[in-house]
Amino acid sequence: MFFASGSGSNFQAVIDAIENNEIDADISGLITDNENAGAILRAKNHNININVIRDFGTDLSIEQLVNQLSEWQPDLIVLAGFLKKIPDEITRLYPNKIINIHPSLLPKYGGKGFYGNHVHQAVLDYGDTLSGCTVHFVNEKYDEGKIIKQKTVDVLPNDTAESLANRVLSEEHKLLPEVIKQILNQTN
Ligand code: GAR
Repeated sequence: MFFASGSGSNFQAVIDAIENNEIDADISGLITDNENAGAILRAKNHNININVIRDFGTDLSIEQLVNQLSEWQPDLIVLAGFLKKIPDEITRLYPNKIINIHPSLLPKYGGKGFYGNHVHQAVLDYGDTLSGCTVHFVNEKYDEGKIIKQKTVDVLPNDTAESLANRVLSEEHKLLPEVIKQILNQTN
């Protein structure tokens, strides 16, 4: 199952990989904290269950989350552009079962405030010549769980946060399905 807050292009990359028979899996559902997330339309288009959890992080929302996850019984929980912190209650219930994709070479540019173009602007501000994306396990500490796999992207002299974000995002769309396949033990 997936968590997503935004456009859901990473979510879509995994849907496509499943529909192209590159990954053998079913997506039990999508949880979002944002009723306007583009990911919702993508889930609807592919008949995937959707649960919009408002006020994410409150006690009530945590109870809803625990109940939904126990109903869906996921083998793997994927954060694909999910911008809120997963409550500790959930990370404790699902150790080594939650993964997140992040648009930088962690441990660089991770943690609170580093999401979306904030990450890419920081990379440009520091003058890094290399960036990329990371998939890692999720634990109680924001963006600090064990790194599973990364892909690198050169930073070009004329890059803006947007142009760099687009190139990193293309690599994310390859990395996330690759890692899911690896975790589900479906690599050759
Ligand atoms: C992706 O770049 C993802 O790495 C990033 O949000 C974007 C979501 O795009 N995630 C974070 O910044 C998490 N801290 P998408 O909705 O099109 O998949």
